[in-house]
Amino acid sequence: MDKVKVGIIGTGFIGPAHIEALRRLGFVEIVALADSNEAVAKQKAEVLHVDKYYGDYMNLLADKEIDAVHICTPNHLHYRMAKEALLAGKHVVCEKPLAVNTEQANELVEIAREKQLVNAVHLTYDFIP
Ligand SMILES: NC(=O)c1ccc[n+]([C@@H]2O[C@H](COP(=O)([O-])OP(=O)(O)OC[C@H]3O[C@@H](n4cnc5c(N)ncnc54)[C@H](O)[C@@H]3O)[C@@H](O)[C@H]2O)c1
Repeated sequence: MDKVKVGIIGTGFIGPAHIEALRRLGFVEIVALADSNEAVAKQKAEVLHVDKYYGDYMNLLADKEIDAVHICTPNHLHYRMAKEALLAGKHVVCEKPLAVNTEQANELVEIAREKQLVNAVHLTYDFIP
């Protein structure tokens, strides 16, 4: 089976936990990471043993090798990054919350449905207003 090739956006606290968990699956390869600038991304790529790094996540989204992205950035960036990732043809696994209101979340669901892509959030805030 071909490995699923993943790019990680955001490598603060939770990004490295995603990398660790994905590597344990055995069928996923972390091909690149992106952070808020090139120096940070380079340093994180060295520490986390990821070959490619980007200081601008839009360049990661343009990387044709990547099938899916994990969005591990602050909450206010999730919607924009998930939308751009889906529009770039990438499957999305996003940290919670997926978006900051239902309009944004519904829009992402629609784009994912239209493009036949995964748009996943693995922890919900159902009972937190
Ligand atoms: N599921 C969980 O148990 C859990 C736990 C902690 C955090 N989270 C969620 O994970 C997300 C990140 O939290 P954290 O604690 O890792 O935060 P953090 O501040 O430690 O890390 C955020 C990372 O995003 C990067 N970043 C910021 N702007 C960026 C941009 N424009 N482009 C690329 N990278 C950018 C930062 O440089 C940093 O590396 C939050 O949405 C939070 O709710 C989930």
